[in-house]
Amino acid sequence: MAAFSIHGDIIWTENPGSFKAVRNGYLIVENGKVKAVSAEKGEGDVIEAEGALVIPGLSDLHLHAPQFAFAGLYMDEELLDWLNHHTFPEEGKYGDLSYAKRAYDALAAELLRGATTRVSVFGTIHTDSTLMLMEILEKAGLSGYVGKVCMDRNSPDYLVETTEDSLMETERFLSLSERFEEIRPIITPRFIPSCSDSLMRSLGTMAAERHLPLQSHLDENLSEVDWVRELCPWSQSYAAAYREFGMLGPRTIMAHCVWPDDSEIKLLAESGAFVAHSPSSNTNLSSGIAPVRKFLDNGVHVGLATDVAGGSSLSMLRMIQDAIGVSKLRWRFEESLSRPLRFAEAFYLASKGGGSFFGRVGSFEPGYDADIVLLRDRSAETVISQDLSIEERLEYNVYRHPEDTVMAKFVKGRRIF
Ligand code: GUN
Ligand code: FE
Repeated sequence: MAAFSIHGDIIWTENPGSFKAVRNGYLIVENGKVKAVSAEKGEGDVIEAEGALVIPGLSDLHLHAPQFAFAGLYMDEELLDWLNHHTFPEEGKYGDLSYAKRAYDALAAELLRGATTRVSVFGTIHTDSTLMLMEILEKAGLSGYVGKVCMDRNSPDYLVETTEDSLMETERFLSLSERFEEIRPIITPRFIPSCSDSLMRSLGTMAAERHLPLQSHLDENLSEVDWVRELCPWSQSYAAAYREFGMLGPRTIMAHCVWPDDSEIKLLAESGAFVAHSPSSNTNLSSGIAPVRKFLDNGVHVGLATDVAGGSSLSMLRMIQDAIGVSKLRWRFEESLSRPLRFAEAFYLASKGGGSFFGRVGSFEPGYDADIVLLRDRSAETVISQDLSIEERLEYNVYRHPEDTVMAKFVKGRRIF
């Protein structure tokens, strides 16, 4: 693959504490990887990033592809009513491939225009439309994971499988998805209320035996947590039940994690699982505010997620803004000891924090995958623009122009937009 350099103002985070920034530098890419950030150009062409900030591609650790169709609607209910009244009826439509194609094409088109390069996505229980989703995302040039959702209990009759069918369809999904390269399969039990113990055990074993990643939901909403306590009286906690099923490990994403107790935070940290922090969704569905500072202090891996359609926006820049905002409210209202997220920390979570789930992704350190976004820099609009640092210009654009600001995007060194 060709070598090239991107010339401009470059900014990234290597740890949550602070930004690294180089003005008028060269981001050198070779064989799809970052070689260096340098004052001199590397081999090959130079792409001028004039009027842009050069940032790492961002990772959306959790979203529901079939819910994009109603993103921005039905925000007046909490999780369980919202699922029953709006989400399940919509997901029931994805046995229809032509409907699914329209919806998934629209999702891919919007994802392509944003700053997201990596995704971990829920489809529906329908294997064929979920395979179609993989194909659409792969053709769009994105990278990441898609899961066929498993549901064998407490679900409407138009969106439920038998335990046997759920396992057989997961097998079929895994074997038919072998043809994709950049979009890979992920085992996807929806959450404990939708999946019997026996299905969960089998899926946990399948993931372990085949070294597959796994995604689900944990501790999102108080009624859901109570329900799981009734469903799993044998377990100490919601997180402990997932651990019993063999589902907590470094290749696991647990979405939300708004209400974990200290023992669950310990389980998350010890297992190396990733929390998909979904601040917009947690606000829209009145779920609460996840204890992100506690996660970070206890060594839990955290990334950011839109959780569309709990979240109404696909913009990871907006998630950065929202993660900071809700952390300030938590600090003010509940936990005066838990410092709010700083801008560099939230940017880290959206880039290297979540990107680490996919490998060496989300930073410009040598050897990282060349996931690069040229973000339109509108900070010249401000009266004080001549005095702004690169970090300030990034903050301005995240807060003022979180949507629709991408000029070019590269995944593993391939230009996709
Ligand atoms: N828990 C189980 N299913 C869902 C879903 O579709 N969205 C959200 N936000 N939480 C869930
Ligand atoms: Fe979700």
